[in-house]
Parts: sequence; C-alpha cells; structure tokens
Amino acid sequence: MTADQKKKIPAIGILGGGQLGRMLLQAAANYPVTVHVLENDADCPSAHLCHHFTKGDIRDFDAVYNFGKNLDALTIEIENVNVEALEKLEKEGVKIFPKPAVLRTIKNKIRQKEYYRDHQIPTSAFIITENLRELEEAAGFIPAVHKIGEGGYDGKGVQLIRTREDLVKGFDSPSVLEKLVPIQKEIAQMVAINEKGETALYPPVEMLFDPELNLLDYQLCPAELSTQTLYKVEAIALTVVRNFKSPGIFAVEMFVDTNGDVLVNETAPRVHNSGHHTIEAHYCSQFDMLWRVILDYPLGNTDALLPSIMVNIIGSDGHSGDVRYEGLEEVLKMDNAFVHLYGKMQTKPGRKMGHVTVLSHEKQDLLHKSNRIKRTLLPKT
Ligand SMILES: Nc1ncnc2c1ncn2[C@@H]1O[C@H](COP(=O)(O)OP(=O)(O)O)[C@@H](O)[C@H]1O
Ligand SMILES: [Mg+2]
Repeated sequence: MTADQKKKIPAIGILGGGQLGRMLLQAAANYPVTVHVLENDADCPSAHLCHHFTKGDIRDFDAVYNFGKNLDALTIEIENVNVEALEKLEKEGVKIFPKPAVLRTIKNKIRQKEYYRDHQIPTSAFIITENLRELEEAAGFIPAVHKIGEGGYDGKGVQLIRTREDLVKGFDSPSVLEKLVPIQKEIAQMVAINEKGETALYPPVEMLFDPELNLLDYQLCPAELSTQTLYKVEAIALTVVRNFKSPGIFAVEMFVDTNGDVLVNETAPRVHNSGHHTIEAHYCSQFDMLWRVILDYPLGNTDALLPSIMVNIIGSDGHSGDVRYEGLEEVLKMDNAFVHLYGKMQTKPGRKMGHVTVLSHEKQDLLHKSNRIKRTLLPKT
C-alpha cells in the first residue's frame, strides 16, 4: 500500500440495512470512513443514514460482488448473505468482517454444532436428521429441539419436540436435533477480536424471552452469575471466538443449565441484539467497537458505567400498518431511559420496532422501569 492509499478515507460496506446497520452508521459518524449499504428495501432503517445506498439482494452473488468489489472492507448485519461472493471478494483483497469461512460455519446450524463438537466446546448433544423420516426414527432422543440447518430466523426454524406427537412438527430438510437443555439461565457474551488477535470481552448479559414469540424481550447486564460460572462463561466464549481465527465482533449465546454447567447455544458473528445496551451503559459500544476492529484502531473499553436493562419494543398484537407510538412522551420523561426507534414505517405483531435501555445502580429500579416501559411504549396503527 502506498502512503497516499493509506491516507485515503476507507470505504466500508454493510450487507443488510436493518436496525443493526442503522446503529453501526450512527457510530460510524464519529470516524473517518464512508459507509455503503446494500439492501433490497429502499426504506429500510439504514437507507437514509449511509453515504451510499445500493438497492440489491444480499443473497445474490452478483449484487454482493458488484457492491463489494470497489470497497476496502465489508461487514454484515445478518448472516443470510451470499458467502460465495464474499469468498471471491476476499481473494481479491477486500477485507471481510467476519471472514467468509466463519459465515459458512455459522450460517448452517448443523455445521455450527459440528464446529463446537470439533473444538471441544461444551454444547448440548445432537444428531443430524436429513428429513422427517429420520426425525421419526430419532424418537429415542426426545425431549429435544429441532433446528433447521439453513433459512431459519427469529425463532422460526426452531421447534420444540417434547413428545412423540410433536415429531410431525419438525423440519423435512437437513436439520439438527439437540437434547433439550434444562435451562437455569440464558446468557450472551459479546467478544471483539482484532487482526492481531487481541480480544475485548463485554460482561455477559442475562436474557428473558417472550414465551409466545420466542423473541428476546428483556435483558439484564451484568448477568447474575457466580464468580466460578462467570470464569467458565468467559473461557468458553473466548474459545469459541479464537478458534474462528477471524477479526470481528461475536455474540456467544449460552445456557447455564440446572447443574450450573455452561453450554454454547449459538454464535452470531456480528453486532447483536444482546449488545444494544452497550450504547449508553458501556464506555465503548458494540458498534463503536466493530469500527475500531474494521479500521484497525485500538480496541475500546468494555466496562459498564452502570448496570442496565434493555427492553425490546415489539409491534403490538392486532396492529399492522403505518406505525404510531403510544406512550412515547411518558417514557421520554423517565430518568436514565434511552429510547431507540428504528425508523420502520410499518408495524406488525411481533416486529422489532425499537428498544429502550435503562441505567441504574438498583436492580429493582431497572426491573420496575423496564416493566413500565414495556406496558407504556406501544407501536400501534
Ligand atoms: N437445546 C436447547 N434446549 C433448550 N432450549 C433451547 C435449546 N435450543 C434452543 N432453545 C431455546 O430456543 C431459543 C431459540 O433457539 P436458537 O437456537 O437460539 O435460535 P434462533 O435464535 O436462531 O431463533 C433459545 O433462545 C432457547 O430459548
Ligand atoms: Mg438464538
């Protein structure tokens, strides 16, 4: 690289234009970088914040290749992208965060489980089923969770199989059947890793799910864990991330089971819902951190300023269409509550429309306020 090229302001592309891209763009505004977004929906949350918007399908080879070929680096905000195009771009010298090889492993839930097994990373026992017939034959393995290899999103593509009667609800395509874990806690840890292999760990967060929608609902930081469990969690998350041998940022989702054992559930090789609270509650947010990794700056400080809780703002039942936010002013009056609405024009039941992060020294205060927010701030039509 010549001195002139070094001085040039880097042009970075994001595949996908949802809320994660939007928050990445908000953080990019602080750095010498121009950001390009590829996304099919010209009204997506990222479209109006980037320097250059390209309408196109992130799953299409030509769309991704043509978008990336003149850029310095690319990152993703969703795994469901054309990996072949990224591999070609990587060969031609475009940096990809995370590396396409990591995406290949993670995109497919079967390969992802095999990765954990091959690297001695604790994860629930599993078998692979090619079709429904093979699932029927695996009845001895239940209670279990059936997960489609590719194409699942936000809880669709995951089916609980408790009894033999549930077997018909499984997937008739290559899938993984995992033993049902007796979950004590669901946690996630964000880990950043740069080109030099230096790492930065955020404190793990603890999650609560909406049992009906299977979407992340509330999330407490830091997770309440014994020191011993915390050490296990950190060691496992680091092993998962280091073995990928790729710079980037990763969200490692784990279960603490009723014996206190820690099992990896799945990993996202990108900024993630479980890091949203880092925008206000930590010195360096996950979005800021990813730019530091991509632009090869020093890693940031992951320490918390205060404990926090994050509430997802989900489209209200029975409301589909142009959105209006009920209760916004009431929430904006609350101390230390930070509202993020993602700029989606249309709401529908269960759609992630925004999130609110609350900061406080007191857990009771966090729980009380987040419950109030959940009941007050409602996306309706
Ligand atoms: N082996 C398992 N045992 C118990 N619960 C599980 C298991 N696998 C997944 N779950 C539950 O299902 C949820 C969704 O599964 P996950 O694999 O994270 O899929 P996704 O996040 O892609 O929808 C998890 O957050 C967890 O609550
Ligand atoms: Mg998950």
